[in-house]
Amino acid sequence: MSDSFKNIVAHSKEYGYIFQSSEIYDGLSATYDYGPMGVLLKNNIRDFWWKSMVQLHDNISGIDAAIFMHPKTWQASGHVDAFNDPLIDNKDSKKRYRADVLVEEHIEKIKGKIAKEVKKAAKRFGDDFDEAKFLAEHPRAQRYQKEIEEISAELARCMNDNDLEGLGKLIEDLGIPDPVSGSRNWTEVRQFNLMFSTQLGTVAGKEAKLYLRPETAQGIFVNFLNVANTTRARIPFGIAQTGKAFRNEIIARQFIFRMREFEQMEMQYFVRPGDEMKWYKYWREFRMKWHRALGTPAENLRFHEHESLAHYANAAVDIEFEFPFGFKELEGIHSRTDYDLGRHQEFSGKKLQYFDHELNESYVPYVVETSIGLDRMFLALLTQAYQEDEVPDAGGKASKRLVLKLHPALAPIKCAVLPLVKNKEELTEKATEIFNDLRFAFDCQYDEKDTIGRRYRRQDAIGTPYCITVDFETLEDNQVTIRERDSLEQHRIPISEVESVVRKRTSMTNLLRSLNAK
Ligand code: GAP
Repeated sequence: MSDSFKNIVAHSKEYGYIFQSSEIYDGLSATYDYGPMGVLLKNNIRDFWWKSMVQLHDNISGIDAAIFMHPKTWQASGHVDAFNDPLIDNKDSKKRYRADVLVEEHIEKIKGKIAKEVKKAAKRFGDDFDEAKFLAEHPRAQRYQKEIEEISAELARCMNDNDLEGLGKLIEDLGIPDPVSGSRNWTEVRQFNLMFSTQLGTVAGKEAKLYLRPETAQGIFVNFLNVANTTRARIPFGIAQTGKAFRNEIIARQFIFRMREFEQMEMQYFVRPGDEMKWYKYWREFRMKWHRALGTPAENLRFHEHESLAHYANAAVDIEFEFPFGFKELEGIHSRTDYDLGRHQEFSGKKLQYFDHELNESYVPYVVETSIGLDRMFLALLTQAYQEDEVPDAGGKASKRLVLKLHPALAPIKCAVLPLVKNKEELTEKATEIFNDLRFAFDCQYDEKDTIGRRYRRQDAIGTPYCITVDFETLEDNQVTIRERDSLEQHRIPISEVESVVRKRTSMTNLLRSLNAK
């Protein structure tokens, strides 16, 4: 972890965003709990997703399916046979790794060597340096590039062909050492299924083995007919769901980026076969717009087209975000053909078809899916919002502050009400009165401890967009000072206007309007 990332992790603990799970027992790895601020931010992100998908689209409805599903679901979906990671153990350190990740990290190291060459040359040539030309001509950079291409191609081949022996040989040929011990004493590569299983009641046997769902999507597929029939939806239509998913990830790290228990927000859009590319395009653009609406700069987001597609997909793209540890997948948009419904039809023996009145024919619809991890979205917003800047202190001198510049509509606390000083009953009474009224409208805080400067800093650190200060003048003119978190601007406004001013600037409605969906 870089120092800046460590600071974010420490900040999120200090201010009640995220705690290590079961911390008093030294924690459970890759499992986290959301604290008082975290749960509010998480609810707001989920709310924004839900409203933008379900409320803003006439033809999308939501469901909340059970986490436990009939075990055949996971045979039909392919998870029992193919939801695996290739694992390798080091015989000396006894540590277990994902074989493909060891190779990917090796590739990253070679990329680092190219970056070093570029840096050296840029220093040498100054303003005249042309990076593209350098990369095209420099023999060592060219050699590294060729090496990367060859390793990547062999890795992709091994993964596609499920060639575990080939993957083991690749690790051996490249001389990849154990990142911890440096030993090259590896076992063979084996497949490891990522689903957690448990028993149903006290009945033993195959049918009694239940899986904790590794994705929410299957709850949507098995409810396809129920929703189609009860909503009388006409194709194209969508079903949305948010909820917990579980994966026995071997490499669970980078804080809440990869966890064993996490939450997904997924939507399956059922379309006429042949129309899927039109909708795939629509959803990739809409989902990118959703991220941009939150103020994420364009340069921190990018599309990553999948080069090798799963056998059932005919297009797939990730929206990647630049996390403190580089660009990584935040969301996936997949055109999954009729694979899932077709497989459930086969395994359940029930027809999962749609009668298209316009075409006067029945068919198994094609599906375009959007799938995003709520926790990963939380981490993206947190890392982007966390900033250190300088503000004038009480004496006018520049002083450092830590601030979470979260979008106001997602911020956990919309405004804090602060009496200027604490031991003046007239002020605390008035401030309490204002707070007790505003709490009907928003999540607010009342704070009278410490100096006003310290209280501002505390609110900045949790990302509160507005502070309302009640001073002696308030008692005369019924006006308060409203301070804005990012610009630090302060204005006097009548108490009667506080609610509408805060509402206007923190409203989810305005954020949703910026999406302009139908
Ligand atoms: N139904 C498709 C599906 O589940 P996925 O790419 O495996 O696709 C979708 O997962 C999203 O779920 C990812 O883009 C990521 O945001 C999130 N996700 C997946 N595994 C995760 C994990 N172990 N921890 C946190 N988020 C995860």
